[in-house]
Amino acid sequence: MSYDTIIFEIDDNVAVIKFNRPKALNAINPDVINELGKALDQIEADRSIRVLILTGEGEKSFIAGADISHMVNFTPTDAKQFSRQGQELLFRLESLPIPVIACVNGFALGGGTEFAMACDFIYASEKARFGQPEINLGVIPGFGGTQRLSRKVGMAQAKELCMTGKIISAQEAKDIGLVNRLFSPEELREETMKTAKLIASKGRTSMQAVKETIQRGYDLDLRNSCYMESEAFGMCLSSPDGKEGFSAFLEKRNPEFQD
Ligand code: CAA
Repeated sequence: MSYDTIIFEIDDNVAVIKFNRPKALNAINPDVINELGKALDQIEADRSIRVLILTGEGEKSFIAGADISHMVNFTPTDAKQFSRQGQELLFRLESLPIPVIACVNGFALGGGTEFAMACDFIYASEKARFGQPEINLGVIPGFGGTQRLSRKVGMAQAKELCMTGKIISAQEAKDIGLVNRLFSPEELREETMKTAKLIASKGRTSMQAVKETIQRGYDLDLRNSCYMESEAFGMCLSSPDGKEGFSAFLEKRNPEFQD
């Protein structure tokens, strides 16, 4: 399938989606939302794909937010619908059965920070910039930013970012726990791919279970989330991955996980 607003590539068992609207610094419009949705369909249908990386084409921008020129004449109903469309796509990304890594190469503002936060974790270039500048436009984040940011970095940090609209450096984003690791712009893509390949070498069943257990457990109380963990632990142990992993350890060899 060919796309206009994204570039979709597969490197062995790692899919890479690059946002590709360079003239608008990869701002998100309905075409991007539709095409990303189709790319996710393609990924879900292909069991050989084990990890997804999201990044921006070029050096300057990951995503500079939702497309302001698209939103300028919105009615309240249009705005609410666009917000719901973006939110649903990010819920889908978050619950994809495979890990998703945000590889933030430049500006991740507004919707850009929101897309990155819906990934399982964020690697960033030392030159990346993050922020929720919607307040400067007289609006608020609309793709889940007010909610995911406080869950990721705590309520006070989230309020400060959303209230000031300040753009922060990659180092500041790492300091508050938004970004896992920083790399030079030259190393970022290679290092992200290395981690993706490492993750892709593990068992699919246990990988999906670890993602779901951490993700869904986060919104539950500790007793219920631990109960969910026990269920998933039991399921993994009796799965082909679990049998292979345990046998390989006892036989002193590397495991060979099947799909
Ligand atoms: N929407 C539409 N176009 C955008 C855009 C956006 N979010 N961000 C940048 N662009 C466009 C600019 O309009 C410009 O286009 P022209 O060349 O046709 O004028 C082009 O990209 C390059 O941008 P700049 O000339 O501004 O580049 P810069 O290097 O001077 O500044 C920037 C870069 C700091 C990212 C600046 O472009 C900027 O502040 N962009 C807007 C960021 C923003 O406010 N994002 C939040 C959007 S609202 C949102 O995301 C709501 C939500 O949660 C759903």
